[in-house]
Amino acid sequence: MTPFAFVYALHLLAALVWVGGMFFAWMVLRPAAVAALEAPARLKLWLEVFPRFFRWVWAAVILLPVTGVGMLHLSFNGMAGAPRYVQVMMGLYVAMLALFLRIQALQLPELRAAVGAEDWPAGGAALGKIRKTVGLNLLIGMALVAFVAARPHW
Ligand code: HEM
Repeated sequence: MTPFAFVYALHLLAALVWVGGMFFAWMVLRPAAVAALEAPARLKLWLEVFPRFFRWVWAAVILLPVTGVGMLHLSFNGMAGAPRYVQVMMGLYVAMLALFLRIQALQLPELRAAVGAEDWPAGGAALGKIRKTVGLNLLIGMALVAFVAARPHW
């Protein structure tokens, strides 16, 4: 395995874990939890789910730029030689990171406080905000992958 192939595989796996995890949470776990659980149990479930998933997102958040910049040095002559689609990828990474940090730093503590106080309506509202932010990040992540897979040159 060449060094580029190794770094490239790590990059793809990190993207897969982050975007795939959001897809599963949004498209599968969320409707299943709504169908099977009452609000208190559902909110407690998400409080168990998010911190576990976010550990992996943190790994992806660190690995993506490290491996991405590594690939740029291995085969594109550094940042200056980065194709335009890689520059777009970096920009969308910053947007995805900002949305993730918003959930981690603001919205998850709000959910935790509401569940701690057994204030279920407030918990539902906090979960609704997280759902919207994750939905947006999922759309950006899927659009990013579809876009860079085409390696557009213009
Ligand atoms: C600072 C952040 C990032 C940098 C510097 C970066 C850099 C790169 C580079 C240099 C490549 C190889 C391009 C090629 O071989 O033509 C690549 C491929 C790829 N990246 Fe990123 N990337 C970043 C973030 C992301 C993010 C956030 C995702 C998705 C969530 C992502 C998904 C992908 C995918 C799917 C490929 C494979 C595309 C292909 O070769 O067909 N990257 N990235």
